[in-house]
Amino acid sequence: MTEGQEEAQVSESQIAVHWREEEYYYPPESFVQQANAADPAIFDRFSEENFPDCFKEYSDMLSWDAPWETILDTSNAPFWNWFVGGRLNASYNCVDRHLAARANKAAIIWVPEPESDEPVAITYRDLYHRVNEFAALLRDFGGVKAGDRVTLHMPMVAELPVVMLACARLGVVHSEVFGGFSGNACGTRIADSGSRILITMDGYYRSGTVQDHKVKADEAVAEAHKQGQDVDKVLVWRRHPGQYASQTPMVEGRDFFVDEVIAQYRGQIVEPVSMPAEAPLFLMYTSGTTGRPKGAQHSTGGYLAYVTGTSKYYQDIHPDDTYWCMADIGWITGHSYIVYGPLSLGTTTVIYEGTPNYPDAGRPWRIAERLGVNIFHTSPTAIRMLRKVGPDEPKKYNYHFKHMTTVGEPIEPEVWRWYHEAVGKAEAVIVDTWWQTETGGFLGSSLPALKPMKPGSCGPAVIGIYPAIYDEDGHEVPDGKAGNICIRNPWPGIMQTIWGQPERFLSVYYEKYNKDPDSKDWHAWPYFCGDGAVRAPDGYYRILGRVDDVINVAGHRLGTKELESAALTVPEVAEAAAVPVVDDIRGRAVEMYVSLKPGSPPGDEMAKKVTRAIEVEIGKIARPKNVWIVADMPKTRSGKIMRRVIAAISNFTDTGDVTTLANPEIVEDIRQQVQEAKLAQGEKPKELSETEVEEIKSFGTE
Ligand code: PRX
Repeated sequence: MTEGQEEAQVSESQIAVHWREEEYYYPPESFVQQANAADPAIFDRFSEENFPDCFKEYSDMLSWDAPWETILDTSNAPFWNWFVGGRLNASYNCVDRHLAARANKAAIIWVPEPESDEPVAITYRDLYHRVNEFAALLRDFGGVKAGDRVTLHMPMVAELPVVMLACARLGVVHSEVFGGFSGNACGTRIADSGSRILITMDGYYRSGTVQDHKVKADEAVAEAHKQGQDVDKVLVWRRHPGQYASQTPMVEGRDFFVDEVIAQYRGQIVEPVSMPAEAPLFLMYTSGTTGRPKGAQHSTGGYLAYVTGTSKYYQDIHPDDTYWCMADIGWITGHSYIVYGPLSLGTTTVIYEGTPNYPDAGRPWRIAERLGVNIFHTSPTAIRMLRKVGPDEPKKYNYHFKHMTTVGEPIEPEVWRWYHEAVGKAEAVIVDTWWQTETGGFLGSSLPALKPMKPGSCGPAVIGIYPAIYDEDGHEVPDGKAGNICIRNPWPGIMQTIWGQPERFLSVYYEKYNKDPDSKDWHAWPYFCGDGAVRAPDGYYRILGRVDDVINVAGHRLGTKELESAALTVPEVAEAAAVPVVDDIRGRAVEMYVSLKPGSPPGDEMAKKVTRAIEVEIGKIARPKNVWIVADMPKTRSGKIMRRVIAAISNFTDTGDVTTLANPEIVEDIRQQVQEAKLAQGEKPKELSETEVEEIKSFGTE
């Protein structure tokens, strides 16, 4: 089976999922009055008859050095090329073009985590200078040029968008690795992308303490070297220029403090390099079903047009708004909807360094009040957490959101209603945006002034996106039935390929439903999202979750193979399996099952070793909730680990028929061991929803 086929299992039982229809909520009139998209004619403009020309409307929002000639070139299907012949520069579009009208307006307001430190506003003019100076440093000191890749491993500081935009100015492809990822994970991505430069920071604040971040750069360089890629220079920003916060020494001739080197580039201006629309702008790595991460390659013209258009219509961003997306720039949400979309529209984007509940659960609302934030964007995990620790905090603060977003995971209607009433004070419109790293921008969402909200549904497809839900054989399923959601058409924000793995791009996303591999017609190439979904008769989609071996923890994708490979780096571990458990705050958490090589002693120490290995290989975000050391794994006769059986045990659900296993007797032993330990830890079996039960039941069998 190819990877794509493996990713596509929707169980029979999943096809019969039903849920209670929620009621519509309508946007306040005050919102509709001022909305960027308030005329229903927009639906006609973006109807399928007008595809692909409809996307001219998004490209017209950008400033082009040379206009494009062909809107969509399908000659190398499904490697689509958008806006062919056009040339532009992303940094020019996000910075320079705003200077005439709003040079002294804040482009970025950066909020340090320590509350005693004042927020820092960076105007468009100041951003222009910072980006130019760093671009000069990168070009002349770093020696990079258009097309080269540079890896960034930076926290939530204003220097991160400065570096991204400096890369974009030179046509250099940036690859930002989420700051919370380990040095090893960063090293793997350096090697995969072939970067010779790593840009990092010495430290940053997280929950009140300074994290030593530079230490990860040393690990990353060592790991990249092991994988055959040498890093020439490590450029180290200092959180407090002049004061080094890390314990690790700087390596002579390799490591340089940016605040020192940049002195010689002060005041320099670098002409933006005019790039072809189809030149790659950045890579964003994500997890799949094999251990090797996938570098989703995003284009300059198509991507920027798509995030600008969707930011304007779906985030309803106007230049005078103060927009705050609490995601991390190290994920696609931050790239598209903290940096590129908002800055392309010339608005003020807020960047917060730390954790939302530091020093207490009122922090986000104090930031909103202080800065006059009127558009707010976050994830269900953050909403659940803030609701749990400070349900009454929002009302203590005098802020007013006109618009709020939820992104990254399904949101329970009950949590949605708290977001609406408590956080939004029943004044804000909400969009539940469904999309992926690979898709560059939104796929599903209500258009805020024109379509009502429905808690628990992401809404209809966004304009210019035409989905279909297929069964395993490629037949469309009727409304109300679950299947594999696909997007039938290309759109400008879709990744161009998986960096260095074009065959994986084809097999994972396109092979499953393509009937003619030689076809140059886009109709022949539905994009396979890897999500299960149901469409209601009103055309609203409810996303059920991944149909592959990916676990969505707090909105972050973790591949079971990655987790298992990390556990297998412990020499005593013979076999490992990762499964999801339903978690009240993070949506899902990970539990690991491992069996040991003969003669290896089980016990707490061994479990800690496995946890530590996962932290080292991936990062703390992947830390398992429990590590269960078992005598053996339940297996099929052909030796495959039955993850769905142990997933059922971890979630206290029915394991189903296990009589066909090679070793059915082990199931009862594991159940007793695990469930007794969980009950002893004080865990109570949860009431799971039908969709959660189905997810566990159909969880991957390798
Ligand atoms: O399963 C879907 C879920 O997150 C996956 C994409 O994860 P990632 O590439 O990390 O991007 C996250 C930010 C866009 C999807 O395949 N997902 C994302 N948004 C939603 C969602 N599930 C339900 N509702 C959403 N709004």
